[in-house]
Amino acid sequence: MATNWTPNGWKNFEGLQMPEYRDSAKLAETEQLLGTYPPLVFAGEARSLKADLAEVAEGKAFLLQGGDCAESFAEFHPNNIRDTFRVILQMAVVLTYASKLPIVKLGRMAGQFAKPRSAPTEVQDGVEMPSYRGDIINGIEFDSGRREPDPDRMIRAYNQAAATLNLLRAFSTGGYANLQQVHGWTHDFMSRSPWAKKFEEMADRIGEALAFMEACGINPDTVPQLKATSFYTSHEALLLPYEEALTRQDSLTGDWYDTSAHFLWIGDRTRFEGSAHVEFLRGISNPIGMKCGPSLEADDLLKMLDTLNPAREAGRITLISRFGHDKIEAGLAPLVRAVKKEGHPVIWSCDPMHGNVIKADSGYKTRPFDRILAEVRGFFAVHRAEGTFAGGIHCEMTGQNVTECTGGAVAITDAALGDRYHTHCDPRLNAAQSLELAFLLAEMLNQELSDRAREAA
Ligand code: TRP
Ligand code: MN
Repeated sequence: MATNWTPNGWKNFEGLQMPEYRDSAKLAETEQLLGTYPPLVFAGEARSLKADLAEVAEGKAFLLQGGDCAESFAEFHPNNIRDTFRVILQMAVVLTYASKLPIVKLGRMAGQFAKPRSAPTEVQDGVEMPSYRGDIINGIEFDSGRREPDPDRMIRAYNQAAATLNLLRAFSTGGYANLQQVHGWTHDFMSRSPWAKKFEEMADRIGEALAFMEACGINPDTVPQLKATSFYTSHEALLLPYEEALTRQDSLTGDWYDTSAHFLWIGDRTRFEGSAHVEFLRGISNPIGMKCGPSLEADDLLKMLDTLNPAREAGRITLISRFGHDKIEAGLAPLVRAVKKEGHPVIWSCDPMHGNVIKADSGYKTRPFDRILAEVRGFFAVHRAEGTFAGGIHCEMTGQNVTECTGGAVAITDAALGDRYHTHCDPRLNAAQSLELAFLLAEMLNQELSDRAREAA
């Protein structure tokens, strides 16, 4: 357990990217109320995830983390939850087959509401207002009433997270995650994808493996593992009053857990020495993530690891790199080398989204699919060269057929971005692009596996 730590100790540190609530009495009342609400996750589940992630740290499993950039109150709908969950499962099947490793499935879902912003205010037509910081804080509409941070939104976010998590739990264990069915959806998708030829072989082989197992009497009725899956939730731990209110002492171990999600991460803008967010995460026992970008020096990373994981527990820390397609190789290698030399057990995961945002001619913020892919390739190349394990992928995606990232098999163009651009924040991969990414990633994992086998022989 962390020493000299309390759930509200972060208040004595530098807290960036958090709103100033004008009505402090209402804030206190809301925190108090949230503190009486049931935890959203159980500490034992966070421990199971940590154990699963320890397997990833050792190269025996692979991490798939995905979901919205920002969840919103407006897009809260069972179909959206279902469709995103479905695509994550489809990706997981492809990756399981390619890597021959268990896939740890972690949604950026059921709590991913708060967003860091590059400026505290936004100016439109000469009018200045507080920036939109996510639906848990204020409204996206450019209107002074809506932009005022409102503590009540935390209650609404909690309720939405609870309902989302409830549905995800039902889907994971209630039959929706049936392996044969999930592959059936992918099979359907193949008939519509222009890249079908490219992916056909792998999809066929997965189908054959399932048919072979079926013939041997191994099916979802005889083997329950084929019918259910473990699915965990995560979000950026940004709005500390909310996270603190959901932080509870586990009655079994006495350890503190942030029960708003199984896994919390700290962003690129809030990880620095003396940061309130680092202080908060230091004391919770959940598995945690940390974004690593071009501004992070190896020495500072090592200090951060000592602070956040002094006991060097495997599965505790996932480092999520986000450099950009042309900076990944030069930027990531020194970090990987330093961490390896120091012997800190970490999971390396690739976020190929946040370093690859560009403004399209149409004015929309977008991410070209080719650059996303190039960053993933660079990520694998670095780990290959350093002799470390490329352990996971972190992507912003949705199960909806949006047009937010350019490229992919259907080749969304700059001009088409306006058709269905729905995101409340960053551009997301749509359902088809997400699955395409999984197939391309599968090829890389396959290659990695056969290279390793050849070297071992
Ligand atoms: N239970 C196994 C797992 O989660 C197999 C499985 C069942 C599965 N349904 C799935 C894998 C859906 C991926 C997607 O890995
Ligand atoms: Mn984002």
